[in-house]
Amino acid sequence: MTAQLIDGKQIATQIRTALKQQIAHLSQVPHLAIVLVGNDDSSLIYVHNKQKAAAEIGLKTTLFHLPENTSESELLDLIECSNQDTSINGIIVQLPLPSHLNTHRVINSISPLKDVDGFHPYNTGMLQNNEKPYFIAATPLGIMKLVQSVCPNLSGKNVVIIGASLIVGRPLATLMLNQECTVTITHIHTKNIKELTRKADILVAACGVAKLVNADWIKPDSILIDVGINRENGKICGDIDFADVVAKAAAITPVPGGVGPMTIAMLLQNTYNALLLQQQNL
Ligand code: GUN
Repeated sequence: MTAQLIDGKQIATQIRTALKQQIAHLSQVPHLAIVLVGNDDSSLIYVHNKQKAAAEIGLKTTLFHLPENTSESELLDLIECSNQDTSINGIIVQLPLPSHLNTHRVINSISPLKDVDGFHPYNTGMLQNNEKPYFIAATPLGIMKLVQSVCPNLSGKNVVIIGASLIVGRPLATLMLNQECTVTITHIHTKNIKELTRKADILVAACGVAKLVNADWIKPDSILIDVGINRENGKICGDIDFADVVAKAAAITPVPGGVGPMTIAMLLQNTYNALLLQQQNL
């Protein structure tokens, strides 16, 4: 037996193609402001990929690339200008920020109506309450689509998420709970982690540790989602040891070509939705 590959690249391409057609019918082009502070290597690549994917579907981006030593008040001023600028529909601040900046204060300054990353407490709070937020974080949203492509009804499933981040683990846990799953989040302080992961019908690895999860960690016939993007000997690999688990799992996302392309597609979708939302709120 070998696990079914969940082809994130293909699903993301379908979403981007549909968006391209929808944008072609609009009188206004959706516009995303990307704020990048400093020169973190991974962030530079992610931002470049977001801009490239946006351009391919006719979505406008403006990059505000600020120096590493930018002060918090300068950054907050830029975000306030972008909040007020009616030509901008969505705003993202690429994370991580340099350590002298307070990530929560910065995120909280983005208008919830333009928060296409879905990180603002208004949007995360609405999600927690199982109400409709303006935006849901792109990576968890993409993961839900990948999981539902192989398992449409999630009610009653045991889900284990390795990693409790603001960007992936926490919002994903809420999305899964809202679909009636029983959810466990593990993190570096979790004891006997394998006892938990071995019970998972759906296991999501989002901890940034190369090949942490091997066949010994998983339940037979489980669905495995790999959010990791690690570099090992010049090669990209995930948080799951793909070769070790592939014969035991039912379905698995590859790295690259799994979650990564979905994150970008959902960000573009959120920015398109932001334009429609703001047109309604005029
Ligand atoms: N850094 C890693 N992933 C993300 C993301 O989805 N959004 C932002 N703003 N920063 C990130």
